[in-house]
Amino acid sequence: MDGELLERQAGEDERRVETALRPRSLEEYLGQKQIVDNLRVFLEAARQRGEPLDHVLLAGPPGLGKTTLAHVIAHEMGASIRATSGPAIERAGDLAAILTHLEPLDVFFIDEIHRLSPTLEEILYAAMEDFQLDLVVGQGPTARSVKLDLPRFTLIGASTRVGLLTSPLRERFGIVHHLEYYPEGDLRQILKRSAGLLDVSLVDGAASEIARRSRGTPRIANRLLRRVRDFAQVDAVEKIDAAVARHALERLQVDEYGLDEVDRRFLVAIGEKFGGGPVGLNTLSAAIGEEKDTIEEFIEPYLVQIGFVDRTPRGRCATPRALRHLGLEPGRQRPAPRQRRLLD
Ligand SMILES: Nc1ncnc2c1ncn2[C@@H]1O[C@H](COP(=O)(O)OP(=O)(O)OP(=O)(O)O)[C@@H](O)[C@H]1O
Ligand SMILES: [Mg+2]
Repeated sequence: MDGELLERQAGEDERRVETALRPRSLEEYLGQKQIVDNLRVFLEAARQRGEPLDHVLLAGPPGLGKTTLAHVIAHEMGASIRATSGPAIERAGDLAAILTHLEPLDVFFIDEIHRLSPTLEEILYAAMEDFQLDLVVGQGPTARSVKLDLPRFTLIGASTRVGLLTSPLRERFGIVHHLEYYPEGDLRQILKRSAGLLDVSLVDGAASEIARRSRGTPRIANRLLRRVRDFAQVDAVEKIDAAVARHALERLQVDEYGLDEVDRRFLVAIGEKFGGGPVGLNTLSAAIGEEKDTIEEFIEPYLVQIGFVDRTPRGRCATPRALRHLGLEPGRQRPAPRQRRLLD
């Protein structure tokens, strides 16, 4: 299988394509209903008061729509957005330059905010709290600190790893939303919308076929749609129905549940090395060479959602369904090695 097809992150080229499919308004932003409903109220209230929206932290796995939502919020506020990312800001001066150039009510978006250095975090949370910038000018005995007033702005931070944010920074966000994996019905709607924009005729059954294999993730859904469209185009098929979609997805060797290589490695480890579980997180992490945080934040949640993994007090278990899917017969794995608990 094309290794990139189910990849969680988006490369440079894909980000450009994604921009074209990106919803602009809350109306177009599908799914995540509870978040959208709440935001609608907060936005309306802020607008009525003529104030910026409270600072917003958007958390969740890659491809679920954090960056999209940040742009949508700015659009709804009628505000300009200044976007950057944690790793892109290297020095205090860079951050100060952005902050001092903001206009009142602007949205300042920081992607991967967990990757800001501690010094920058400190400057940022002072700015968030009282819209003031504390800077030390000069060095040694002539150093003095200056305070600059900043315009009232909204900071939107996005992070796939909120666990890595320091609590002082996290506490400065008045609005915190955790984006969830999308249920199949929402992904179907997203696919129908994208098909419309790409001028592709996609029937409901085909949208379901793609949605089911998209691992709850709009980015993956849109990517699979573009590949299915390629097959339909080359085969001169005008309408993509369930059979056409299924055929294309089979040729692309997309797993029936959209599992990627990492998901498989994780499940196979539990199934083969640890007799289906339970197995502790530390042991698993060592066995598959992925960080514990990565397992907990990116790999497990979707597998738990589709009923492939159970988190029990004694460790992780692969369910019989998962084992069958991998061609490992439940109950007949090799016995787990004795020392497997030593690491937990
Ligand atoms: N709620 C949604 N409705 C419609 N399309 C969406 C929605 N959320 C995301 N998308 C689509 O999925 C693509 C990926 O979303 P986005 O770039 O916002 O994800 P992200 O959470 O910022 O990912 P990353 O963590 O990798 O930065 C978008 O370009 C958009 O087309
Ligand atoms: Mg993003």
